[in-house]
Amino acid sequence: MMKIIKAKDYKDMSRKAANILSAQVILKPDSVLGLATGSTPIGMYKQLIDWYRKGDIDFSKVSTFNLDEYVGLDDSHPQSYRKFMQDNFFNDVNINSDNIYIPNGIANNYDCECRNYENRIALAGGIDLQVLGIGHNGHIGFNEPKEHFERDTHIVCLKYETRKANSRFFGKLDDVPRHAISMGMGIIMKAKRIILLASGERKAEILHKSMYGKIDPYVPASILQLHPDITVVADENALQSDGI
Ligand code: PGA
Repeated sequence: MMKIIKAKDYKDMSRKAANILSAQVILKPDSVLGLATGSTPIGMYKQLIDWYRKGDIDFSKVSTFNLDEYVGLDDSHPQSYRKFMQDNFFNDVNINSDNIYIPNGIANNYDCECRNYENRIALAGGIDLQVLGIGHNGHIGFNEPKEHFERDTHIVCLKYETRKANSRFFGKLDDVPRHAISMGMGIIMKAKRIILLASGERKAEILHKSMYGKIDPYVPASILQLHPDITVVADENALQSDGI
């Protein structure tokens, strides 16, 4: 059963999520964190930076693995997820840069990159706490709806709706990459704890479907119902179909 933490609004959701992540790092300073990009976790990162600056949290022993990266975008591309993470979090906290992992969007051999990424996570001992957002089509990471759940880290052909949703950052649809590397569902489901963040009315329907609908690879987030330690941290608007 998914635990649900209902927040008042985006700010409250961000603070509650930051509290969970902060408690994780205080309890286990060398935590392995699975991190997400997108607009949803930005407020959580801001809150964590604030607590770091006040001396309340120390990331020096933490390792991080991001869920995904666009194929073809290098570290300096303004829309690469590496750049997003540097700008929104890593540049402002004391995570050792040697312990930051993001799939390489410009790898020579993507199969190798995918396998190596999984191996690095395994070597780090697996993910202690995975942060997830949810796409309008139910994707987590870039695991898009399809006929089966994709277990391994893999190259994804991005759906039109995902590219369209993300075109707001690129200016025009044609500039949005067609492929991405995404952590597979197997690694995500092996995380010891997961928090799924959602904010706003536009996420209400897919969140409800993911939490209570049938487990269906066409709604990738629905598999999270099977995770033994998942907490949904969502605001009232995102939970409006939930009836709680
Ligand atoms: P968003 O994206 O946080 O920008 O809504 C979520 C996602 O696509 O996973």
